[in-house]
Amino acid sequence: MDHFALNGGVMHAEDVPLPEIAEVVGTPVYVYSRATLERHAQVFRDALADVPDKLIAFAVKSNPNLAVLKVLGAQGMGADVVSVGEMRRALAAGIAPEMIVFSGVGKTAAEMTAALEAGIGQFNIESEEEGLELAAIAAAKGLTAQCTLRINPDVDAGTHDKISTGKADNKFGVPISEAGQIFGKLAGLPGVNLRGVAVHIGSQLADLAPLETAFEKLGALVAALRSAGHTITHVDLGGGLGVPYRMGEVLPAPAEYGAMVARVTKDWGVKLIFEPGRVIAGNAGVLLTRVVRVKRGIKDPFVIVDAAMNDLARPALYGAYHHFEAVEPSAAQMTANIVGPICETGDTFAMGRECDALEAGDLAVFRTAGAYGATMASSYNSRGFVAEVLVDGDRFAVVADRIEAGAIMDAERVPEWLL
Ligand code: LLP
Repeated sequence: MDHFALNGGVMHAEDVPLPEIAEVVGTPVYVYSRATLERHAQVFRDALADVPDKLIAFAVKSNPNLAVLKVLGAQGMGADVVSVGEMRRALAAGIAPEMIVFSGVGKTAAEMTAALEAGIGQFNIESEEEGLELAAIAAAKGLTAQCTLRINPDVDAGTHDKISTGKADNKFGVPISEAGQIFGKLAGLPGVNLRGVAVHIGSQLADLAPLETAFEKLGALVAALRSAGHTITHVDLGGGLGVPYRMGEVLPAPAEYGAMVARVTKDWGVKLIFEPGRVIAGNAGVLLTRVVRVKRGIKDPFVIVDAAMNDLARPALYGAYHHFEAVEPSAAQMTANIVGPICETGDTFAMGRECDALEAGDLAVFRTAGAYGATMASSYNSRGFVAEVLVDGDRFAVVADRIEAGAIMDAERVPEWLL
């Protein structure tokens, strides 16, 4: 459930009419709903009520906006980060270092050092090589890194290839067949306390079965590691739960996920870590855009909006579907190609889409844009970076300024020898 709905024929975010935001902030602009973020955090927490010892660490990559992190931190969430930049955001939002988990295959020595110095709660080590390097850095500083070893369980999550992470040929984690041996090697090193294992098989998962298979494989590994004499106290189950992008689409509910987790892990006797991103933030945001013009097409008209693939990359990158609707719909419908102004055909949000009838100047939204939206923006075509707004009841605030193309140009230099 989200808080974007028609009220008196005008779409609102909570109690704020979207045309008011467009008027004050301009378009395109991402609009987030605080009540929706809080509700999703609560639903996820409630779903895991039967898991006694846990940390829910929001996947910062899905929406790293400081105000969003502040809202979720106040809900008791920690942070799953994949760079020092994300770690600094989580800390700046007031999330305690011990509630921060650092994932990612390419942590640099500088990043590992910074994270050790910040005292983060957990490193998810993705390779033997990384473990050796982290141990050396920590030992040299007289510190101990709290770690899990990320396992690649070789499970097909059944999602888009580009967001699948748990198949044997994906770059993530160590092969489950080698996990025991690598764990043994790293566990004895000074500088690391290797206390568990981690897994994350992919994103926008529409089926719980592959997750359950991965978790069962992990459970068997935990038992094997314990038999080999290791102490296992922590297991990180990653994120991945999908959300509905189409109206009426039904995905596994957090409660079903929670019940499955509680069932599979009931005898593990560990603290569980979760890294949800999309399920928290996805439907808590829309991308508000204005129609620049409607151009006749050979078949369907082109509705050209002022948002583009640089603002919302998912349709161009993954062929992703985002529901598109008018902010002030009439009863009329149209079939249209919805495109942005960027000079490549990839800048297409939808072809032959049945949608509300729109004319030049009308406002519209792309829904489910709160996760992997603004965070993946670029300045392609020198369009600048899109602004972000957070709504709370009947008030709203700009939580990320629009960075105009001129400001980006100001950061560029022409060397003297070209003048
Ligand atoms: N943990 C790890 C280690 C991850 O790699 C990810 C996402 C998550 C947690 C959060 O997954 P979620 O709960 O959000 O599914 N840009 C793509 C999604 C990439 C996901 C990358 N990893 C998209 O727009 O669909």
